[in-house]
Amino acid sequence: MSSAEVAASNVKELEPEDITILQAFERSMSAYESVPLQYLTKYTRLHADEVQFRLDQLHKRGFIIRNPLGYSLVAAGLDALALTGFVKRGLITGMGHPIGIGKEADVFDAISDSGLRYAIKFYRLGRTSFRAARRKRGYSSPIFQHRWLVMNVEAAKREHRAISILQPLKVAVPKVVARERHALLMKRIDGNLLSEYSELRDAETVLREILWNVRTSYLEGGIVNADLSEYNVLFDGRRIWIIDWPQAVEKTHPNSLFLLERDVMNILRFFRRKFRIESNPSAASLYVRGMSDTLEIVSA
Ligand SMILES: Nc1ncnc2c1ncn2[C@@H]1O[C@H](COP(=O)(O)OP(=O)(O)OP(=O)(O)O)[C@@H](O)[C@H]1O
Ligand SMILES: [Mg+2]
Repeated sequence: MSSAEVAASNVKELEPEDITILQAFERSMSAYESVPLQYLTKYTRLHADEVQFRLDQLHKRGFIIRNPLGYSLVAAGLDALALTGFVKRGLITGMGHPIGIGKEADVFDAISDSGLRYAIKFYRLGRTSFRAARRKRGYSSPIFQHRWLVMNVEAAKREHRAISILQPLKVAVPKVVARERHALLMKRIDGNLLSEYSELRDAETVLREILWNVRTSYLEGGIVNADLSEYNVLFDGRRIWIIDWPQAVEKTHPNSLFLLERDVMNILRFFRRKFRIESNPSAASLYVRGMSDTLEIVSA
């Protein structure tokens, strides 16, 4: 079971005092890798016996870990706070099935009271390197635990910021409804990754649409995705969406041009290899940089 599933299946049993304790962890996580009992009693104003009892429960539920200096919040604990946040704001009623469990994020289905379908993206940046470090140092090592969570909150903020700039420009990005901690609540897109298509009815139009979005993001939003490929484009048979923006850089970034051209090359390579559609890389680069207004595409 993934940590979000651990959180979702236990979150309903949490009492307000448990949430207060988890919030105390959250408040302290940028300063400490491990939180002592005294801090928690002081912050929550609960009796030490009660805090201890609740910590044992939270530990059993997989929301925190114990270590020699105190306790640390783990991903499932932060997931629980994020889910509680979305529910309290009346945005979702619960979490559903996994849509994409990957290296850097776990994405789940969710539904609102009125039946709107959402995708929740929980950030897991650096999960693999964190796991390797944990294996080396022992399971309960608190080292980097909180730092890792803080890093994921930052990543969610960055993606939220990029999408908020791009959406008003009509760039095809998933609409972000809200952010809670390291989790983004987005409109659910009913499509598949472009990488999964072995044929397209009108590949040329799809390529044009992607490059128009890359160009508009760069020229009007001043943003380069920097991880664009067929694995970060969703397609529903009619239109595309460019997803996954946490690593996006601004036009002013010293590598922005290199990253922009790499994004374009990844997409051109995919269309050449899979659909035998060619566009001259330098011409495509001039187009996305706004130095030419037309884009020539040749089908073999
Ligand atoms: N708004 C959405 N609607 C529907 N599906 C989505 C949405 N956002 C993401 N997904 C699905 O979740 C997967 C992972 O999302 P994303 O690419 O944003 O994260 P990631 O960091 O690349 O994760 P991974 O390591 O799995 O690639 C996507 O490939 C896509 O299938
Ligand atoms: Mg991705």
